[in-house]
Amino acid sequence: MRTDTGHVFKLTDYKPTDFVVERIDLTFELDPKATMVVSRVILHRREGVGTDVPLVLDGDELTLDSLLIDGMEIDASLYDATPDSLTIRDLPESAPFEITVTTTLSPETNTKLMGLYRTNGVYCTQCESEGFRRITYFYDRPDVLAVYTVTIIASKDETKQLLSNGNFLGGGNYDEGRHFAAWFDPHPKPSYLFALVGGDLGLVEDTFTTMSGREVALKIYVEHGKEPRAAYAMDALKRSMKWDEEMFGREYDLDIFQIVAVSDFNMGAMENKGLNVFNDKYVLADPETATDADYANIEAIIAHEYFHNWTGNRITCRDWFQLCLKEGLTVYRDHAFSADQRSAPVKRIAEIRLLKAHQFPEDAGPLAHPVRPETYREINNFYTATVYEKGSEVVRMIRTILGADAFRKGMDLYFERHDGDAATIEDFIACFAEASGRDLKQFALWYSQAGTPSVSVSSEWNDTKKTFKVTLEQSLAPTPGQSRKALMHIPLAYGLILPDGSEFEGQPTGGEASGGVIHLTKRKQTFTFSDVPGRPVVSINRGFSAPVNIAMEQSPEDLAHISRHESDGVARWQALNDYATRHLVAASRLARDGRNLMPAGDLADVLIATAKDETLEPAFRAQALALPAESDIAREIGSNIDPDAIHTAREAVLAEVARAGQDVFTTLAASAAKGAYSPDATAAGQRALAGVSMSYASIAEAAADRAKAAFDAADNMTVLAQALQVLAHQFPGADETQDALESFKSRYAENPLVLDKWYSTQAMAPGSSTCDRVEELLASPDFDHTNPNRVRALIGAFTAGNPTGFNRADGAGYRLLARQVVEIDGRNPQLAARLLTAMRSWRSLEPGRQEQARLALLSIRDAGKLSADVSDIVERMLAA
Ligand code: BES
Ligand code: ZN
Repeated sequence: MRTDTGHVFKLTDYKPTDFVVERIDLTFELDPKATMVVSRVILHRREGVGTDVPLVLDGDELTLDSLLIDGMEIDASLYDATPDSLTIRDLPESAPFEITVTTTLSPETNTKLMGLYRTNGVYCTQCESEGFRRITYFYDRPDVLAVYTVTIIASKDETKQLLSNGNFLGGGNYDEGRHFAAWFDPHPKPSYLFALVGGDLGLVEDTFTTMSGREVALKIYVEHGKEPRAAYAMDALKRSMKWDEEMFGREYDLDIFQIVAVSDFNMGAMENKGLNVFNDKYVLADPETATDADYANIEAIIAHEYFHNWTGNRITCRDWFQLCLKEGLTVYRDHAFSADQRSAPVKRIAEIRLLKAHQFPEDAGPLAHPVRPETYREINNFYTATVYEKGSEVVRMIRTILGADAFRKGMDLYFERHDGDAATIEDFIACFAEASGRDLKQFALWYSQAGTPSVSVSSEWNDTKKTFKVTLEQSLAPTPGQSRKALMHIPLAYGLILPDGSEFEGQPTGGEASGGVIHLTKRKQTFTFSDVPGRPVVSINRGFSAPVNIAMEQSPEDLAHISRHESDGVARWQALNDYATRHLVAASRLARDGRNLMPAGDLADVLIATAKDETLEPAFRAQALALPAESDIAREIGSNIDPDAIHTAREAVLAEVARAGQDVFTTLAASAAKGAYSPDATAAGQRALAGVSMSYASIAEAAADRAKAAFDAADNMTVLAQALQVLAHQFPGADETQDALESFKSRYAENPLVLDKWYSTQAMAPGSSTCDRVEELLASPDFDHTNPNRVRALIGAFTAGNPTGFNRADGAGYRLLARQVVEIDGRNPQLAARLLTAMRSWRSLEPGRQEQARLALLSIRDAGKLSADVSDIVERMLAA
């Protein structure tokens, strides 16, 4: 294991390598227990680097079999090989030289799923971020770009396909029973984009003709028999390729694009040049086994990895501190793609929900870090919601500030100027500053300052002067390592809605404001609107133009006015959501103090009116009806949290809304699209509205039969999974629920991805007894502890998706997680560290739970030999 060295990497320590890599030739002889890797690298000493400076290459758990320099053995005194480095002295002053490094790997016993490993009989690699050094000694860092040639040799029977990056060079028989294939990737790339796959897989093929008329072969490899389930992914891929040409002028640059789906994968998917490797969860779909949400994820992730070909591969990162340069930007691009393919407002609402659910708590807790971190101990722990989602929001703000045209110009300049580079955030920002003529210095603080800014908003109406003043004040609380913060540039889209529902068009004085966007750049600014015909209601941060918390005393009447008249769907949802959140927070506080809750009649009226409003698209109505989750309410409360009180309050409000709207919900529950299943956004929206309505109707009836009938009649996984969830979460003890769970399990016993849903549905059932059920499932013999999807489906769903169950007052949930984290850490540190982040908000709990959580964290810290991944997380979480 790469144990913790405690070493801290710093952005300011960046220094180019002492030697320059010219090219690399790799040969693999695949074998489950002893794969031989021969790496021939041509290098030269960088100009100005002294001859006394040795070549130091990275390794991780490697043993060196042999080393040659220019084909000759060298004296053992001239090099040192340890598991994590290879140091070679006395190399030529300036002439290029070749090193030949041989290592032997055991893919079969590689349980970390980093480097070369086996999954279901398939050899595959995962090299980002530092997995290549588990294959051979190399400069395993993103600023070392090289041209790769790869030869793979393997048994013909077991390993039919031999794949790597780039274009196919040739292949054929090797020696008895073995064959080989050779690949050449002409595009210089960093080692993290290297990939190799060897296996006996089924193939789905298609082609794409690029905008300049080149034909690209598209290949998706899946397990035999699953080929039909790759059709949607293929369709999404072709749409992504077309979209990137149309929206960003980006064309694909190899003759072939391949995707391989594997069942054991630490992440969602990986953008290796010309050979993406995917968690099969994000490739395989058919109506019987995948939900609408699965289809949407597949579309987004196929697009995301494809878009990396330009934002990540052609232009890569100088160092891992710049991770958001490729990830934040590529998330921005996949969001824009999905918005175009589906309903833009509904997509934006889902993004806002996700950002607030994952990134806001991260930014408010002990793991808070800037979008571009300045230090890290383990880079794997920085593939976070902040780098990804907030990183995407920052790009979105650049577009908001510059406007669509200048933004596109900036992107074009970036592609043109930095193609082939390992770039930085400064390079990226400079392109937009130049393309627009705008000074983005203050704006760039979004990359360096952690924490979610707060903006307090107050307004003043002068009825005699007909003026309306809006005063905005920004603040940013300290975060770990950053006690003092500078003032930010916050672009806030806004609207003034007049009493008649129309919008006031006049521009304010008091600061920069144009195109419906106020630029808050000082601590406090007052914007004055004149000649306003009547007292307006201000709708601020429309469409969530800036990822901030808005504090504003807005009356329920004003919020209702906005939610009725907002022309923008997202803003309309925001007003409704704020209204519901405010009610639920107040109700939770009353429940906490053991007092009676106030009636939810007004909220129910607005929700029911929205449910019925056929001028609104069904997907929007479904979003509006989905009340803020318990975790959303907890986040708004912020401290001294009692998850049980929140649950009680939320259930009471749900029941009240359900009873008040029973007729409406009963009608809508039966309104799902008839006919053959189609995964398109419109049909999915109708199912979402019917599904949430079915849930309300069942709550109103306080009976399981409606959900059981839906379960029995379901002809697609979306409806089936939704019905199972209502049964398991609303009627845990009912016979119908037991029947449904059993029938689901036996029906899908042979389909691991569907069985994952069976595990996570149970793991998320609210209440204290779920913890025992999770223990039971963990102990059952058919639970595969080595499969990341299965582990996340049970432990991840329980800890991150079940506030009452996980935060059981006696601490049993925390102890379960602590035990699992330590156990999993021995096999797969990356997975263990990720699971542990579910406890990041432990300090906002009420004192009793806080103490239990602290004890569980201490038990991890003191468990002995921890990976760098887990020890980094646990120590940051415990730091004062
Ligand atoms: N480059 C990442 C995959 C990755 C993440 C490799 C962490 C190594 C460590 C890939 O492009 C990615 O971002 N995948 C996401 C899905 C995406 C749609 C946000 C993932 O795997 O979760
Ligand atoms: Zn990515």
